[in-house]
Amino acid sequence: MDQKTVKVADLRPGMVIMEITELSFDYATLDPKTVQFLQTNFKGASALVLKDSGRQTVPIGDLRAFDNLNAITDIPASLKLAKVVPGLAQSMERHGFLEFKVSIPADGTGKEERAPAPGPAKVGSAEAKAQHQERVQDAKKLLEKVEEAASSREQSSSLVEEMLDQGRSGEYSTKPAERAVEEIISNGVTGAMKAVAGLRGSDQTYAHCVDMSVIFQEAYADILRRTGKQSNDEVNKFNLIAGFMHDIGKSEVPKDILDSTTRFAPDSEEMLILRNHTTYGAKILEDLGLHKAQINVAHFHHVKRDATLFTSYPDVRYDDVLPLTRLASITDVYQALIGKRKYKRNWVPAKAIEYLLKLKGSEFDERMLDFFIRSVGRYPVGSLLRLSDNSLGFVLRIAPDHEPERPLVAVVENASGELLKAHSIVDLMVESDLSVKEVVDHYEHYNQSEDQAYQIFSSIRIG
Ligand SMILES: [Fe+2]
Ligand SMILES: [Fe+2]
Repeated sequence: MDQKTVKVADLRPGMVIMEITELSFDYATLDPKTVQFLQTNFKGASALVLKDSGRQTVPIGDLRAFDNLNAITDIPASLKLAKVVPGLAQSMERHGFLEFKVSIPADGTGKEERAPAPGPAKVGSAEAKAQHQERVQDAKKLLEKVEEAASSREQSSSLVEEMLDQGRSGEYSTKPAERAVEEIISNGVTGAMKAVAGLRGSDQTYAHCVDMSVIFQEAYADILRRTGKQSNDEVNKFNLIAGFMHDIGKSEVPKDILDSTTRFAPDSEEMLILRNHTTYGAKILEDLGLHKAQINVAHFHHVKRDATLFTSYPDVRYDDVLPLTRLASITDVYQALIGKRKYKRNWVPAKAIEYLLKLKGSEFDERMLDFFIRSVGRYPVGSLLRLSDNSLGFVLRIAPDHEPERPLVAVVENASGELLKAHSIVDLMVESDLSVKEVVDHYEHYNQSEDQAYQIFSSIRIG
């Protein structure tokens, strides 16, 4: 019998699955339901998990919630799903099993018929109308939360500041972060906070942690949805805490370096000190008893896929960087771009997304970057766009995957540049004769010091 490693699309009837060598992102931090699913369906197999002491193989029955699953090995050939039959590949893919070590019987394998993926709804069809209504409802819900989100963001930033200050005096605690996270979750404002982050930018470490945290958590929940699962409050809180704490090590960096308005050279002493925030952070979180996945985020969120890059630190194998951390590292760079640093101006979210796409392959895990961009959108919520009729509108709902250039916008300015009092909704998935002409920098177009872009966005009312 031949053995080889194949991707899910190359599974063929007759093959026998021995190991699952690549799992989708949502196995990075297991939820209780997934643990139960694995233990039911993979009885007798082993699990390769990341433990404090490194990678370890354990019986699948020993898996626990929040473990980080890397692979499933020793799959008994007697298991129902070990033998590939027509249709199994689709079901494997749905469950997020992506790569396999298989054995191939001497008599070869059968042909596999894969059902074509369902296409998008036809323009004007009942399905398309229902999807449009759903997008409008999402947009309304978002608008209702904007002001609350802005105040949650302010409060959370103060709590992060308090946490870092407490840290400076040697009293580390997760309490302020927990308080902030409780409020954010109970108010259901993460989506709107993401929009506010892009509209207002940020100019200090504190808002950076808050914005990074909500964008990160939303992206994670989105990945779960895409793989047919649901996130829940427990998982959302876990990730928000990981985000809030990811730069906690900065409290060990002298304030004059942290708040400096000069840009440090990559090999300067200040930069070396700044870089230590990841190892400091990991140590602090370990002492606080946080979960190893949360510690991994703090420790490795600056590790690049290409470890030879000077911006990659500390020096570890990319394999040790959990998928959760890979997502955090993309979010961290994205937030740094849309937030303001004292020595540079901030980018609007749509430009930051363009930039991230250019870094594909060198800095980031590609699959994770794809997930991230689909979650945030080619034109993120809050982006100011000029449409082909020269009117201007803010994105209220990102475009669907198959038409990434066709979001739903609220038109706030007509083609002659007059601000409108009554805002109209343009869903580019419906208005097929309109398209996006360009991304407009809302900081340049509106008065930044008066926070005008946010003021207009938060005043949008749709019927
Ligand atoms: Fe950092
Ligand atoms: Fe950061």
